[in-house]
Amino acid sequence: MWLDEKLKAKKEEIYHSSREAVKLMLAEEKDEIVKMSTISVVLKKNFSYYLWVGFYRLEKDELLVGPYQGSPACLRIPLSKGVCGKSAAERQTIIVDEVEKFPDYIACDSKAKSEIVVPVFNQHDELIGVLDVDSQYKGAFDETDKRQLEALLKEIFSS
Ligand code: SME
Repeated sequence: MWLDEKLKAKKEEIYHSSREAVKLMLAEEKDEIVKMSTISVVLKKNFSYYLWVGFYRLEKDELLVGPYQGSPACLRIPLSKGVCGKSAAERQTIIVDEVEKFPDYIACDSKAKSEIVVPVFNQHDELIGVLDVDSQYKGAFDETDKRQLEALLKEIFSS
């Protein structure tokens, strides 16, 4: 099933309140794991079309699973493998409307139908990992999710 227009229309509002909540909670916080845990739980609670949300942290040439909400996930992803590895290698957000059509997709949960992966940078513009979101709907993620998630990650990890 594809994400319906009613849910799409509510995205901006939910991102707005989620970003406000995360900013308030993390106002004095410096620790990256605390930040990742807080972002994962707030987003999972607020977005009904998020099936799995969490972070993979960059360690040498691999992405290691970090704080997340959802079913048990793959623990390690080599750079350039899967949507997460490609996003990290290219340092760009990737949106996949239908995961079964992505040639190098790594399946962790058969319920996942679409995905967005957003790279995470620290204040020195170094890549520290990626934020990965899976949806149970096809075509769940668009330019709104991209813009809002990139802005959220920037305000929490790069400033
Ligand atoms: N689907 C991802 C793997 C991580 S899970 O979705 C949690 C990928 O292809 O990189």
